[in-house]
Amino acid sequence: MKPRWLVTGASGTVGSYTGPVLGSRFELDLASRVDLDVTDLTAVRRRVSSGGYAGVIHLAAATDLDRCEKEPSWAYALNVVGAWNVALACREHDAEMVHVSTVGLFCGDGRTGPFSELDEPAPVNVYAHAKWKAEQAVQAVGPRAYVVRTAWVMGQGAEGDRKFVGKVRGRLLAGEPVQAVGDIVGSPTYAPDLVEAIGKLVDTKAHGLYHATNRGAASRFDMVEVMRTSLGSSSATQSVPASTFPLPAPRPVSEVTEHFALRARGIEMRSWQDALHAYMQELKQAK
Ligand SMILES: NC(=O)c1ccc[n+]([C@@H]2O[C@H](COP(=O)([O-])OP(=O)(O)OC[C@H]3O[C@@H](n4cnc5c(N)ncnc54)[C@H](OP(=O)(O)O)[C@@H]3O)[C@@H](O)[C@H]2O)c1
Repeated sequence: MKPRWLVTGASGTVGSYTGPVLGSRFELDLASRVDLDVTDLTAVRRRVSSGGYAGVIHLAAATDLDRCEKEPSWAYALNVVGAWNVALACREHDAEMVHVSTVGLFCGDGRTGPFSELDEPAPVNVYAHAKWKAEQAVQAVGPRAYVVRTAWVMGQGAEGDRKFVGKVRGRLLAGEPVQAVGDIVGSPTYAPDLVEAIGKLVDTKAHGLYHATNRGAASRFDMVEVMRTSLGSSSATQSVPASTFPLPAPRPVSEVTEHFALRARGIEMRSWQDALHAYMQELKQAK
């Protein structure tokens, strides 16, 4: 019999791949916000107590960085209290927990990475601070947890992707000019690769803190160049500084990631270029 796992925030970017990637190995109960509000402790306890779950993959979160900056109480309620609630219910019912966090919680002290699990967080914005406090809340409650930090997630397909890759791809296909930030770097991560890594981590039973991203470093402009070549686009592209697009929430200058802990468990993730090509294929096949 397949172990039964609950997924919170299941209709989001990462959650949308949990069924396709893990469905053959786990019986998944996919809960969107309307099915389960993670800020409601009573509802979370009720769901976890009645589900007979081996574990919970906790993906529900406030991920709009600019809204987090403007509405910190929303960010802390969803990101900290939500994770805390899930951790409590998991501990009470001896379920494992996968808590997904962010690599974007560094750089506030001037360091520019790459960042491993051994580096001390120094958040530059409310979102990152809330995600860091959420990690601490989970660790304080102490369920059998994998805390998995990721970065620059891409996915959700031709219909759902309203983020960077989806928007830029549309412009490149239309031959429109594209400006992209060249002075902020990260480790872009294809959501199914993250979900795959989560599945492998769950097999290890080695609870702890992990960085899980595709390998390597890229700016948004580097991503555009890979996409432009892949699509054979005639668009003019330009690298611009982040100051070209002022935003309410400050961004960390680097989310470039090292995988000290993941490698210790024998888990490798492919390069961001291979991952971006795979996502481009997914988008092409959807058309
Ligand atoms: N995307 C990235 O680049 C990135 C980078 C680093 C870390 N992460 C982390 O990865 C995890 C998954 O992110 P994602 O990209 O899949 O985010 P996402 O697409 O924004 O999905 C988050 C989901 O949470 C749901 N949600 C909102 N409020 C909720 C509530 N009160 N109760 C239950 N569900 C609620 C949302 O539903 P509605 O849409 O209906 O509101 C949405 O489906 C998050 O922990 C995020 O912080 C993401």
